[in-house]
Amino acid sequence: MSTIIFINEVDSTNSYATNLIKQYKPVEGTVVITANQTSGKGMMGTRWVFQPQKSFAASWIFYPDFLRINSAFYLYIFSSLAVHDFLSEKMDDGLGELKIKWPNDILINNKKICGILIENTFKSVKIKSSVIGIGINVGYSEKFREFGSLNKEILITNADLKKFAQELDDKLRYYYSLLKNNKTDDLNKMYHQKLKDFNSSIVFSENANGILIHGIQRGVDDSGRLKIQVGENIKYYSTKEIKFL
Ligand code: BTN
Repeated sequence: MSTIIFINEVDSTNSYATNLIKQYKPVEGTVVITANQTSGKGMMGTRWVFQPQKSFAASWIFYPDFLRINSAFYLYIFSSLAVHDFLSEKMDDGLGELKIKWPNDILINNKKICGILIENTFKSVKIKSSVIGIGINVGYSEKFREFGSLNKEILITNADLKKFAQELDDKLRYYYSLLKNNKTDDLNKMYHQKLKDFNSSIVFSENANGILIHGIQRGVDDSGRLKIQVGENIKYYSTKEIKFL
């Protein structure tokens, strides 16, 4: 079981965890959770909104120094599989479809319920440390119902938050051990089984021009780029280079 650091209020659990690494390098698997995140960070410089007693925000510390920088996407793969597993156990049967949206959002019935922000440090060609920040919208209020609903184990008290972190921790540890044991092919396969729109038709635009393009999503390559078949050709996109419609 991991060390859980619980903080009543913090700007961002990711920033807090990053500072801990700088200060004393906590043991791998240490997790920072909070009852109120006031300035959560999202992907590509966005803000991640937190609603006390309705949201979950936590950041795990890992030292995947066995992983080369060009394989960093496996951090997204293992963590999104862990969250997917965790949420699927929380969902009532028949409630809806749970999918991973490239690169690492988790959707219930096409609505985003979870975002993951990973911040790494590097040493030479390897990863030195990794802060994996997970934000889940779990509330039952009117506002959050649109994200899909979970079963009765929703977050209300601080004790619930800790239990939630522990359960998620088990999943993260399991998938991290697969990564550590070089089971990247298995991870890749599982990720693609849960990937939204895999081998399906999609419409997108390349950010620069806004022209609509029809293609077939063919999954994700080892460096995390999305592969899209357009006509006979396969095109590769990073998150900044593509918009979905
Ligand atoms: C996204 O934009 O989809 C990623 C959102 C990640 C939010 C989580 S909440 C816990 C951790 N702390 C942060 O400041 N951000 C991440």
